[in-house]
Amino acid sequence: MNILLLGSGGRECALAWKIKQSPKTDRLYIAPGNAGTASIGTNVEISATDFDALGRFAVENRVGMVVVGPEDPLVKGIYDYFNGHDELKHIPVIGPSKEGARLEGSKEFAKGFMMRHHIPTARYQSFTRETLDAAYAFLETLKAPYVLKADGLAAGKGVLIIDNLQEAKEELKQMLDGMFGSASQTVVIEEFLSGIECSVFVLTDGNDYRILPVAKDYKRIGEGDTGLNTGGMGAVSPVPFADATFMQKVEERIVKPTIEGLKAERITYKGFIFLGLINVSGEPMVIEYNVRMGDPETEVVMLRIQSDLVDLLEGVAQGNLRDRELVEDSRSAVTVMLVSGGYPGHYEKGKEITGLDRVTESIPFHAGTAFKGGKIVTNGGRVIALSSYGATKEEALARSFKSAQVVSFEGKYFRSDIGADL
Ligand code: AMP
Ligand code: GLY
Repeated sequence: MNILLLGSGGRECALAWKIKQSPKTDRLYIAPGNAGTASIGTNVEISATDFDALGRFAVENRVGMVVVGPEDPLVKGIYDYFNGHDELKHIPVIGPSKEGARLEGSKEFAKGFMMRHHIPTARYQSFTRETLDAAYAFLETLKAPYVLKADGLAAGKGVLIIDNLQEAKEELKQMLDGMFGSASQTVVIEEFLSGIECSVFVLTDGNDYRILPVAKDYKRIGEGDTGLNTGGMGAVSPVPFADATFMQKVEERIVKPTIEGLKAERITYKGFIFLGLINVSGEPMVIEYNVRMGDPETEVVMLRIQSDLVDLLEGVAQGNLRDRELVEDSRSAVTVMLVSGGYPGHYEKGKEITGLDRVTESIPFHAGTAFKGGKIVTNGGRVIALSSYGATKEEALARSFKSAQVVSFEGKYFRSDIGADL
């Protein structure tokens, strides 16, 4: 089967690596891809949200499946687009329908869904500019810190956590006045939950599901989880606190009611569900849903799936996931992200990356990279995810940190404390 994978980050590079290993894969196309995916499959210069061009390409190149990496095409309705065109209908898109993608595209919808299906999450209310006074009154009933979330997609920046009530009120007003454009026309205010987070990934065909290896990512730029939020500076899998008891609770209280809830609401969902969870004194609660795999979690999760991913995706497309096997690799996997100096603030692109050919103990997944004049150069904040296996997390980390010394580019930075808190 020919597969078209959408996206251009480290997540897509890891998905491409895993998809390419399947005997079921003939040609693998990545749109638009990066310098790393170019050596795994064939990059196609089409934006992941240009549905017309993607559709034409899929027909011309006999694509048998579309795998969607990022949320944008899903929230914009790529599933429905393919499903709604006669010449594209037969090509399964791995991902939710537009309606299902609202689990990520609208925090208000996601919170409402969790309420309707009794899925544990923080207490909340949502507000608009018209209900500002009620929002202030709700804030006054909560204890600090205050959690304010823009309803819509805001490039991962739409959540503010604020220590002081007065400041929270001011920021809330600014959000409703357009701090994140139309994404913050509605704001969800919720109770702050205290605990340690992890990412649980579920693959579903709409009826059955498989829970993929659990991962934890490291979001802050600075060591010891300090400084600004980033797209993710590293990840580890497995996660020691996500033991059998905890995962049993996750499955019973969160995974099953989510799948049942989607069915009950007749929401078509054939793809990945990303549960952003927090462990509050041993009890899992949902911080957020995403409708895709995580980045950089994918750069460890793919290493820990022993089974053929394409076989599982075929099960999703054909609605017989129950007949497909998911075997986990018992080894540990970690990834350490090399980022551009200045990220997540201002940084420069176009710096030559050297040493990739000398990495022997890790898999270098490309994130923000491109070709320029025959060289591989930096093309984003997050540049290379160095993923490694180990008998233990420590062994895997030692390999990634060693590789992090081998790869170089001007301004390179990485966190040397990934996994140290576990
Ligand atoms: P979200 O985009 O909803 O995942 O929020 C971004 C980050 O903010 C999360 O990964 C958490 O670290 C933090 N966060 C969000 N909601 C809460 C909450 N209710 N309590 C504590 N931390 C939160
Ligand atoms: N690593 C978090 C995310 O992909 O949203």
